[in-house]
Amino acid sequence: MKTSGMFRNCLAVLATLLLPAATLAAEDGKLKVGFMLPYSGTYASLGHAITNGFKQHVDELGGKMGGRTVEYVSIDDESEPAKATENANKLIKRDKVDVIIGTVHSGVALAMTRVARETNTLLINPNAGADEITGALCAPNIFRVSFSAWQPSYAMGNVMLERKHKNVVTLTWKYSFGEQSVAAFKEAFEKGGGKVVKEMTLPFPNTEFQPYLTEIAALKPDAVFVFFSGAGAVKFVKDYVGAGLKTNIPLYGPGFLTDGTLEAMGDAGNGLLTTLHYADGLDNAKDKSFRNRYAITHKMQPDVFAVQGYDAAQLLAAGVEAVKGDIARRAELVKAMEEAKIASPRGNFSLSKAHNPIQDIYLRKVENRENKVIGIVSKALADPARGCKM
Ligand code: BEZ
Repeated sequence: MKTSGMFRNCLAVLATLLLPAATLAAEDGKLKVGFMLPYSGTYASLGHAITNGFKQHVDELGGKMGGRTVEYVSIDDESEPAKATENANKLIKRDKVDVIIGTVHSGVALAMTRVARETNTLLINPNAGADEITGALCAPNIFRVSFSAWQPSYAMGNVMLERKHKNVVTLTWKYSFGEQSVAAFKEAFEKGGGKVVKEMTLPFPNTEFQPYLTEIAALKPDAVFVFFSGAGAVKFVKDYVGAGLKTNIPLYGPGFLTDGTLEAMGDAGNGLLTTLHYADGLDNAKDKSFRNRYAITHKMQPDVFAVQGYDAAQLLAAGVEAVKGDIARRAELVKAMEEAKIASPRGNFSLSKAHNPIQDIYLRKVENRENKVIGIVSKALADPARGCKM
């Protein structure tokens, strides 16, 4: 009896020793999520909203994915591209995260994407829109749940044509996302016969807008197209109104201008038309429950960035659940993520072959501090994924 009991124990120990490390981790280990997001600077509110949204979905799952308790480490990336490679490496090599969630600023995201590709780290991008991320830099381990720069701004080009604008001035921060947003807008607008008469840029995150507003007043275009977001967007819209331009020269842009910024903007935002993959007043049950829970927890309404954080967690859960927590089964995990149908507060979406959402783009109008949905301007819009070889 005694000998057979010992034999059984030995077999059990041997079996444990022979199990692959990843299987052990799947049974006992926590799932380590590394947030690399801006928690300071002009995009700080965006980083916090993404974190809140992500955690909201994890809480709905009882704090677990695929049977593993989710734990978090975070780095404030300060929207600083020069620190991005080092910060991403800290999460991967020092903190040994299983997945990185990040980030907001495209310059930072491009560097992170390169690190993730080199180290084969799973990366879910919850915001940054640089086209290359799901274009030339696309890879099996790189996913985006937000948008490409091309999507909302191309849609806006068509909206401004329909509104009979002919000559337009553009203004943005001079970095990849701003410049690609203007290029996408211009692509649609000039294809339809419009003309971009002047492209103006200022360094990120400068908010000294006065010289540009003076030039716009002198040029007298039919309309202005801009990309700004976060605290910079609040200052820009207030300055545009303060300069007396809003009544004569209508202002448009992708919806980052007015998402998460309307409380701080006050009445200055009233009437602005923007295009985005989310809006206030969408008639779907998922959005209602998402917003109710968010409002109760955070005493404020969610914005598009919170939605993207929430959907990053939904996408990760789709993969981790499929492999029952054993994320070393990478090919199966990736396949499940690629095939996921995400029931998002924005409306249902799936991913393109390049891992970017195929989604509706809404036209929204600011009324009573909300981005009221007016309609869908581009149904199931897919990014062209230029340069993606996957
Ligand atoms: C970007 O840099 O990709 C970005 C930043 C804020 C809002 C939207 C996009």
